[in-house]
Amino acid sequence: MLPEPDSELVAQSKQLQQLITQEIQQHRGWIGFDHFMDLALYTPDLGYYSSALKKFGEQGDFVTAPLLGDLFGRCIARQCAQVIVSIQNASLYEFGAGDGSLAVAVITELDKLGALPDCYYIMETSARLRQRQRSSLEDLSPELKGRVKWLENLPDVINGVVVGNELLDAMPCKRFEVNSHGQIHELGVCISDARFEWSISSQPLLDVDWLAKRDLGSDYQSELPMRAAAWVSTVGEKIDQGIVLLIDYGFPRQEFYHLDRNQGTLMCHYRHYAHTDPFFWPGLQDITTHIDFTSIAEAGAISGLRTLGFCDQANFLLSCGLTDILADSQTGGEPGTKEILKLSAEVKKLTMPHEMGELFKVIAMGKENPENLIGFQMRNQARRLLPE
Ligand SMILES: C[S@@+](CC[C@H](N)C(=O)[O-])C[C@H]1O[C@@H](n2cnc3c(N)ncnc32)[C@H](O)[C@@H]1O
Repeated sequence: MLPEPDSELVAQSKQLQQLITQEIQQHRGWIGFDHFMDLALYTPDLGYYSSALKKFGEQGDFVTAPLLGDLFGRCIARQCAQVIVSIQNASLYEFGAGDGSLAVAVITELDKLGALPDCYYIMETSARLRQRQRSSLEDLSPELKGRVKWLENLPDVINGVVVGNELLDAMPCKRFEVNSHGQIHELGVCISDARFEWSISSQPLLDVDWLAKRDLGSDYQSELPMRAAAWVSTVGEKIDQGIVLLIDYGFPRQEFYHLDRNQGTLMCHYRHYAHTDPFFWPGLQDITTHIDFTSIAEAGAISGLRTLGFCDQANFLLSCGLTDILADSQTGGEPGTKEILKLSAEVKKLTMPHEMGELFKVIAMGKENPENLIGFQMRNQARRLLPE
């Protein structure tokens, strides 16, 4: 039984539910799941990411790697530094910067490494989170703060590094079901007895060749990360020189669309409970799906990005020098027991296979950039993303 929200939040969610209901009615009683997810997460002031609700950390709904401490960001910075120093006038572009923790850790480490980008641009959909990021960055030195800028639109040309941690999983996805005749139908949302309900479109979803060729059996449900893929292609087109570095949970296609994963990967996060009902108090919970990284690599290839590296988060962080960074964190005075315990808990969470170490993957795609990215020295499984 999930805890009930208080009356103020219930009223907020009901306002959003009314708005989604109107949207469904205007679309003749049915909207695709991607449309529902978009409204539930990003409706101004009411959607999960757009509202004033506290989302991140212990008092929120979930914890991401940058919130655990600065080790994750320092490793990411080392990968960025390798690319930044190899390109003239390189900038860094962070998409979906959450509460700003990653930006603080990355720019601070880049400064230490003598590899500051011309600018640290942040692109963030949520106006409230942009405010939150500004206050997180407030304590940086004037020199570092002066390099951080928020962008409303994608620049025409990108030179440098694009970073997104847990960005793709927050992008609305399509859902589908394979019926007993092997036909693939899109899953959407309708209203029944004044409640949102799953509803299968009568139109078969015909436009995904590779999906139609797979034998998924019947009663198989899953997701297609179409918006995430479109985003990768659009960003890829803008890149002149540089890499896109994305960290998220997911698998290569053959594992993602495995027969055993016949209910897909949709997950909702509400006050640290994970469950699978996206219609539970819309606007008050996160809705997310795992990523089919093969689709991401394919989308990159459309815009000329080559997949340079793919591996699990643990191997990426260790390749970037996690252990050196850890040793460095402990110099400058004997660390107290509390500090040692905090660091070791952070390392465990980031790298242990049953925590973030194995499920989270890192993909790097690039144009005209260094071949041997340091983050993939220990393991590079980019070949696993080639379509079968
Ligand atoms: C799951 S949160 C991750 C936040 C942060 N990166 C972290 O690791 O803590 C997803 C973030 O992506 C943002 N977002 C989603 N789609 C976006 C887009 N197309 N462009 C920029 N930001 C986006 C959300 O508003 C939110 O800040």
